[in-house]
Amino acid sequence: MRITIFGTGYVGLVTGTCLAEVGNDVICVDVDAAKVARLNDGEIPIFEPGLDELVRDNRAAGRLHFTTAAEPAIAHGQMVFIAVGTPPDEDGSADLSHVLTVARSIGQHITRYTVVVNKSTVPVGTADRVRAAISAELLIRGLDVPFDVVSNPEFLKEGDAVKDCLRPDRIILGADSARAIEAIKALYAPFNRNHERLVLMDVRSAELTKYAANAMLATKISFMNEMANIAEHVGADIELVRIGIGSDPRIGYSFIYPGAGYGGSCFPKDVQALERTARAHGYNARVLSAVEAVNVDQKDKLFVLIERHFGGDLAGKTIALWGLAFKPNTDDMREAPSRRLLEQLWAAGAKVRAYDPEARHEAARLYGEHAGLLLCEHPHDALEHADALVIVTEWKEFWSPDFERIKATLKSPVIFDGRNIYEPRTVEAAGIAYYGIGRGRSL
Ligand code: UGA
Repeated sequence: MRITIFGTGYVGLVTGTCLAEVGNDVICVDVDAAKVARLNDGEIPIFEPGLDELVRDNRAAGRLHFTTAAEPAIAHGQMVFIAVGTPPDEDGSADLSHVLTVARSIGQHITRYTVVVNKSTVPVGTADRVRAAISAELLIRGLDVPFDVVSNPEFLKEGDAVKDCLRPDRIILGADSARAIEAIKALYAPFNRNHERLVLMDVRSAELTKYAANAMLATKISFMNEMANIAEHVGADIELVRIGIGSDPRIGYSFIYPGAGYGGSCFPKDVQALERTARAHGYNARVLSAVEAVNVDQKDKLFVLIERHFGGDLAGKTIALWGLAFKPNTDDMREAPSRRLLEQLWAAGAKVRAYDPEARHEAARLYGEHAGLLLCEHPHDALEHADALVIVTEWKEFWSPDFERIKATLKSPVIFDGRNIYEPRTVEAAGIAYYGIGRGRSL
C-alpha cells in the first residue's frame, strides 16, 4: 500500500519504518528541514534499539522516503497518518495546532478517497475536529472528495519501540466506516497473525483507550510511590511489599516499581491532558489529580534525602549522578527526574558530575556549558572528587558496581538509590551509607 506519515518523531518514524519493513511504500513528512536532511543522510535523530538498521534497509530498498513537501506526499498516500506532536499548552491541555495544520493540508490536497489515521495521542473528540478541518478545506476548493478519519492510537514504549510496533499486543481501531475498517485491516494483516489483535470500537472510545492505558500505568506508579513513602514512615521495606502484592495476578509484577517519579514524553503530559479534558466536560477527575500531585512530589524525593543527609548544607558539595535519561535504553530526557534533581542541586550550591550511557549529548544540548555540570565518559569518572553517588536511571551497567572502588573514591561514601537497584545490606556491608526509596526508616 502507499502510505504517508506526517511527523517523524518517535511514533511517526517507528510506524513509518515498520510499515515499510512489511512491504508498503512509505513517505514520511516533517516540517523540520534539518531533520529530514539528516534522515535522508541515513542519520537517526533518536537512540532506539534496532531502528537504525531498519531505516537503512528500507531506504536502500526504496520503500521509505523523507520529505518536507506535503502536497506530493498527500497525493502519494492511500492512507495518511497524523503522527505529529501534541505538546501541553499553558494549562496542560493537549495543543492540537500541529494536528489541525496537517488536517487542513490534507483537505487542501487530497484528490481521491483517503483514509486519515490519527496516530498521535489526542483528546476525545479530535477525530471530529480533524474531519471538520478537512471538510472546510474541501468546501473552499468546491470539491466533494470522499475521506474517512479513524483513530488508531500507538502504544509503543521508548527503548522497545521497534518490537512493540512489529509485534503489537493490541491494535486499537476506532472507526465508523466499513471501507476504512477494511483498508486498516489489510494494512495491519502482517502484524495481526496467530491470534486476533485488532480491537474495533467507535472513534471516541479508541481516543479514550489511549489515555486510559497511560493513566492506569501512571496510577500504578504513583500508588507504589505513595506506598513507599508510607513504608518509610512505618519502618517497612517497599521492595518486600512489592513482591508480596505482585504475586496476586490481579495486581501483577509490572509497573509497580517505586522510584524517583515517572517521566518521559507521555505519562506526565497525558495524565494532565486527560484531567483537563474531564474538567472541560464538567467532571472533576480526582484520582488523576492525585496521581499527578504524588509524581510531582516524588521528583523532589532524592533531593530531600540528599539535603537531609548533608545537614541541609549542600554548598560546595559535588554529587555524582548515574543516569540522566528518563528511563534506560533511551537518550530522552523529557520530564526526566534527573532534570529536577540537577536544578535543585545547583540551586543549593552543589556541583554535579554525571554519567549516562546515551543521554550525555542530550544533557549537553539542554544545559550547554553549565558550570555546575560535568558530563563524564565513564561511570567511575563521575565519582572522582564527589561526596555522594545518586542513581537516577536504572541502566543495566549500574546494577553490579565495584562497591570497594565506590567507597575508595567518594569523599563520604553514601549512595542514594533512586531506583532501588541495590540491596541495602550489601551496600552497607561495603562501608557505604545507603538510602533507597521506601526501604525502611530513611526519614
Ligand atoms: C509509555 C507507555 O508505557 C507506552 O505504552 C505508551 O505507548 C507510551 O507511554 C506513549 O504514550 O507513547 P514510555 O513513556 O516510553 O511509554 O515509558 P515507560 O516505560 O512507560 O516509563 C514511563 C516512566 O515510568 C519512566 O520514567 C519509568 O522510569 C517510570 N516507571 C515505570 C516507574 O517509575 N515505575 C515502574 O514500575 C514503571
